[in-house]
Amino acid sequence: MSKPRLNLSRLKNRVIAIDGPAGSGKSTTARLLAARLGYSYLDTGAMYRALTHFALSKGVSPGDASKLQALAEHLTIEFKTEQSVNHVFINGEEVTDAIRTPEVTAHVSEVSAHKGVRQAMVAKQKEIGKKGAIVAEGRDTTTVVFPDADLKVYMDASIKQRAQRRMIDLARMGLSTTLEAQMAEIKRRDDFDSGRKHSPLTRAKDSITIDTTSMTIEEQVDRIITLLKDVLK
Ligand code: DC
Repeated sequence: MSKPRLNLSRLKNRVIAIDGPAGSGKSTTARLLAARLGYSYLDTGAMYRALTHFALSKGVSPGDASKLQALAEHLTIEFKTEQSVNHVFINGEEVTDAIRTPEVTAHVSEVSAHKGVRQAMVAKQKEIGKKGAIVAEGRDTTTVVFPDADLKVYMDASIKQRAQRRMIDLARMGLSTTLEAQMAEIKRRDDFDSGRKHSPLTRAKDSITIDTTSMTIEEQVDRIITLLKDVLK
């Protein structure tokens, strides 16, 4: 894909932050946007998923705040994007598929709600973002991790559309589910992520909302490129 002719060096921090609920389209959009801009892609949700997977594999309970915080502080989480796949590694071991299982999905909101876990993860994310040239996405990248991002976007879509997208992802992993079950699971995660005490999912005052319900991924990326052009005017 050719890079758009944008003078990105004019951006102050060279950080684009995208937040939104599960299934809003932010992950694919952020990854493709990063590829188009020649930026790196930071999937902050994958970091919380990696911690959750690691904790479950070591028998650490999703409710054990202090053990989880210690794990979060000492784990090495790395990303490598290759041929449009964002590979994830914990302490050198590849966990790209393992962090997407329904078991990890069921526990990640609880793990990511602990204050100490968030502090450790946010510190890692800020460190990764220091060098700039990054598209970050998650639940608090526009509000807590990168409050000085050059462009902040909040992506949303109807719950039905988000559940349908999640069903397609699960089908790719050979897992079948019903629309009703997915809508209930997404609703449960929305409530948990938006209702938690520390860094809940909220819209930053200066973020621009995109409703992706009837948009294709290409349209979503193009829309953000248009917003970026406005920032660069
Ligand atoms: O984006 P995702 O669905 O892969 O994220 C998994 C979970 O991680 C999500 O339910 C909440 C949590 N998360 C978070 O608390 N803060 C972030 N910045 C990103 C994700």
